[in-house]
Amino acid sequence: MSSKDNFQIQMKKKVEYIEQLLQEYLPKQQGYQSLIMEAMEYSLMAGGKRLRPMLMMETYQLFDGSCKAIRPFMAAIEMIHTYSLVHDDLPAMDNDEYRRGRKTTHIVYGEDMGILAGDALLNYAFETAFKAFVMDSKDSLLIGRALSVLGEKAGIHGMIGGQVIDVKETGHAVSKEILDTIYVLKTSALIEASMMIGAIFGGASEEEVKKVEKIARYVGIAFQIQDDILDVTSTEEVLGKPIYSDEKNEKTTYVTLMGVEGAKKVVEEYSAKAIDLLHQLSGKNEYLEQLLIQLIHRDR
Ligand code: IPE
Ligand code: IPE
Ligand code: MG
Ligand code: MG
Ligand code: MG
Repeated sequence: MSSKDNFQIQMKKKVEYIEQLLQEYLPKQQGYQSLIMEAMEYSLMAGGKRLRPMLMMETYQLFDGSCKAIRPFMAAIEMIHTYSLVHDDLPAMDNDEYRRGRKTTHIVYGEDMGILAGDALLNYAFETAFKAFVMDSKDSLLIGRALSVLGEKAGIHGMIGGQVIDVKETGHAVSKEILDTIYVLKTSALIEASMMIGAIFGGASEEEVKKVEKIARYVGIAFQIQDDILDVTSTEEVLGKPIYSDEKNEKTTYVTLMGVEGAKKVVEEYSAKAIDLLHQLSGKNEYLEQLLIQLIHRDR
């Protein structure tokens, strides 16, 4: 079996593990408000790549972690990421009708429930993360640090901040400097949170967590540029979401700034920088390195 096939098998197993964990943490569909639990499950269990919980787990293993509290955080980061997608697709934002291979939440449940399902996933992410205290109370200091990273990276100094600039900078030319700021915030921030929280629970020092943040920043920028490329080179079937969404919304992207080939080079450059820094960490995780390489050429 080739190492590529082996990687794909490992990845599939990891995705299955994460999806089982998500199912475990999802709220029961009950009460007069059960529609919201249904909409949460619809968007969360639609089958994304599960990259963020995977990066959290792999960074944790790189540091040889043994703190169970990471599990609810893996669910929490995917809930926050999913909420960001549900809101990103709303008519007032990117106005997209497909996501993860199915109709977007607001198309199926209505715009009102789309907004509320996003809110619900965000809030439930924190309810879920707080469960870590009950599981592993002796690690409350680590849990506190992880919660503070999660809150900050999801918020106005992180993903939400990035979405704000992204929306404001629509319909006109955007400088590379502003574009980079948008990518670092809207996309890198949640990837930074994922890897930093993995490192924190893995027992990494403050200094190592800082290094991990930098690695994740590069991974995130590369990931967003690849997302821009796929928006013009892929198909809706493979991607599970509409192509040409950026053009429709008059977004400046790396593709509009430097063309597909130019953008591909930048993806490789940022990924190489990330892998280089990864080698400078004390621990090793072969799978994590392969994952970062695979992301450069991903087709969805
Ligand atoms: C999409 O994220 C939004 C971006 C930050 C580019 P993903 O490409 O990770 O989406 P899923 O989770 O696989 O659906
Ligand atoms: C999304 O950027 C970033 C988020 C934080 C949701 P995009 O708008 O390019 O993501 P897609 O292409 O819709 O997944
Ligand atoms: Mg968007
Ligand atoms: Mg979008
Ligand atoms: Mg996109």
